[in-house]
Amino acid sequence: MSENEVIIIKDLKKFFGDVRAVNGISFNVHQGEVFGLLGPNGAGKTTTIKLLLGLLEPNGGEMSIFGLNPEREEVQIKRRIGYVSEEPLIFKSLTPKDLFNFIASIRGLEEEATTERAREYLESLDAIEYYDQLIATLSHGNKQKLQIVAAILHEPDLLILDEPIAGLDAKSVRVFKEVLDLHVENGGSVLFSTHIMEIAQDLCDRIAIINKGKIVGIGTFEELRHQANKVGASLEDVFLRLTEQDTSVNEIVKKLRASFKKKK
Ligand SMILES: Nc1ncnc2c1ncn2[C@@H]1O[C@H](COP(=O)(O)OP(=O)(O)OP(=O)(O)O)[C@@H](O)[C@H]1O
Ligand SMILES: [Mg+2]
Repeated sequence: MSENEVIIIKDLKKFFGDVRAVNGISFNVHQGEVFGLLGPNGAGKTTTIKLLLGLLEPNGGEMSIFGLNPEREEVQIKRRIGYVSEEPLIFKSLTPKDLFNFIASIRGLEEEATTERAREYLESLDAIEYYDQLIATLSHGNKQKLQIVAAILHEPDLLILDEPIAGLDAKSVRVFKEVLDLHVENGGSVLFSTHIMEIAQDLCDRIAIINKGKIVGIGTFEELRHQANKVGASLEDVFLRLTEQDTSVNEIVKKLRASFKKKK
């Protein structure tokens, strides 16, 4: 194993009955890299992430994080990872204050310094006013901010983020980008999924495009353009080509326009 590889995934598979959610996926994430997973709904992004975190058992393939095995060495790995899940935060009966105290205690962090850092992050994300409010009563975007802060508080080596900015307002996205930059400047790595092409293009060093459980394109934006035979195209066009959705999108648009005209 190369020291530069934070994540290694080889021929990973996960089936749910007849559904081949992850059907032979391979990629590496290098140390210091921001690596993006793009794919249509149901492509297998979350399943891949859950396999990596040891939350699901694979049907085949190999994985390692920091050279450790996610199935056998989950605890050592989790110490060095910050995770933002795609579902809203589960600790609904706590306040952010309780949550950060709890995180400090389970992660063995110094409570005062940890909560001070958490407060600082919340201030920069315009969410400090909710510090003593029940998480259940917060808006979707504010819950998402808490998830992000909870994931970075222990200064992990690797962030694994499943659609981290879904629901964040423009300013918070800006702050989030800065937080990721700082994380990488300090030697950290990132694996994250998103549907937002602009974010992927802006933040990712490399991207894997997943479709129906398989990788259909991987590399830098320029490399993906070549793989799609679309030199100079936008990431959206490259994405639609590689996931074979470009012609169907055109047909759908034509149909919609025709039926709209008929109704008039
Ligand atoms: N627990 C489960 N039981 C059965 N099928 C599942 C389960 N979890 C995921 N799937 C199926 O696996 C496939 C991949 O789902 P996954 O959640 O990984 O997609 P995704 O790429 O994260 O999509 P999205 O962009 O909508 O979040 C889908 O067909 C989904 O219905
Ligand atoms: Mg998902």
